[in-house]
Amino acid sequence: MINKQIFEFPIIYTNPIPRIALGWGAHETVADECKSAGMKKALIVTSGLKGTGIIDEIKGILNHGGVATEIYDKITSNPKDHEIMAGYKLFKECQCDGVVAVGGGSSIDTGKCIRVIDANGGQDVTNFSVFLDPPFEETLKKMKPCTIPQISVVTTSGTGAEVTSWAAISNTKARAKVLVSAPNIPSTIAIIDPLLVRLQPRHIAAWTGFDALAHAIEAFVTKVQGPYAYGILLRANELIYKNLREFTYNRMDKDACERMCWASTMGGIGIGFGAGAGIVHGLGHQISALTDCHHGLINAVIMLAGERYNQPAIIEKLAALTRAMGIDTTGMTEWEAADCWFDEIEQLLEDLEITPGQVNQQFGLEEKDLDHIVKVYSNDFCSQGNPKEFNYDECIDLLKSVL
Ligand SMILES: [Fe+2]
Repeated sequence: MINKQIFEFPIIYTNPIPRIALGWGAHETVADECKSAGMKKALIVTSGLKGTGIIDEIKGILNHGGVATEIYDKITSNPKDHEIMAGYKLFKECQCDGVVAVGGGSSIDTGKCIRVIDANGGQDVTNFSVFLDPPFEETLKKMKPCTIPQISVVTTSGTGAEVTSWAAISNTKARAKVLVSAPNIPSTIAIIDPLLVRLQPRHIAAWTGFDALAHAIEAFVTKVQGPYAYGILLRANELIYKNLREFTYNRMDKDACERMCWASTMGGIGIGFGAGAGIVHGLGHQISALTDCHHGLINAVIMLAGERYNQPAIIEKLAALTRAMGIDTTGMTEWEAADCWFDEIEQLLEDLEITPGQVNQQFGLEEKDLDHIVKVYSNDFCSQGNPKEFNYDECIDLLKSVL
């Protein structure tokens, strides 16, 4: 009998990428896009974006364009299962027929979950979590496809959620951050407008921008990165590395803002081209589940330790990333060029006023939590795609090193 399990990833699947409208003023098309999708009454899903005027602006355009609206603005960072269920309840009570998600990943992913719940008889959102075991290929087959449309209007330059095929949510009972997916889950259209994105506060620009960089890095070094993802991720790395500082400290910098918009979406597309993410996202998700720390920030805080852990397996890829960032590696060996990547990221973190490590001091994570984190991570997609194969003890040591 021939062993057919020679390769860990014999088949790499890409995910569908929605239509994208990117450009200055793109948000003004939101009513037309809703009507094209057949929407008559939209549930605007958001964290509120208080002080920006964005929700009033979107609501005004929709109502003026003949689309009725209800607003659900109770979404918080690392969206909680009960917040999502409350959003679904309002969606049904108000007889909405579509979602307009306005915000970053939390709002966009909540919109996706409301559609998944609606397509599957109102079940609790945690029933649609996907894991390595039981195999997600099997659980996905039992889910009905999303049928109602979602227009995702992006206000951060980080998550790429507007173009991905899953949602990251907090299962509060299990104290875990899990991925939810279902057929036809992506947005109907992603609207990315630098006019809105530039209204982020400085720290959110830095943190979500680093999340975009984390996608561009992790998807590039993952085991399942193939030629589809290669080019788009290298370019995303370059754009973010060269523009995140400027954008963080001057969100009115037109060019930096525009490039961050391109790059953050490119990171999401790279993941969707089959590349996935790795140990930084995998462990970062679970630290957020326990401490509610910001997703982009925790990725930034543990990035150096995560890739030091992976380094022996990804020397050539790290060297390629160093060159993509525009660093002259002439005369360096691949090992030296890879080491140079760590120096550059360390400096970037310092410039963004982000402290690597010290997760206990910064977020209150405790040593007793580490076992839970690693056990949840072991059943997450990110552990499968990470360049170094999963090892419980090594993951505990990694977490201790950033505690
Ligand atoms: Fe992320």
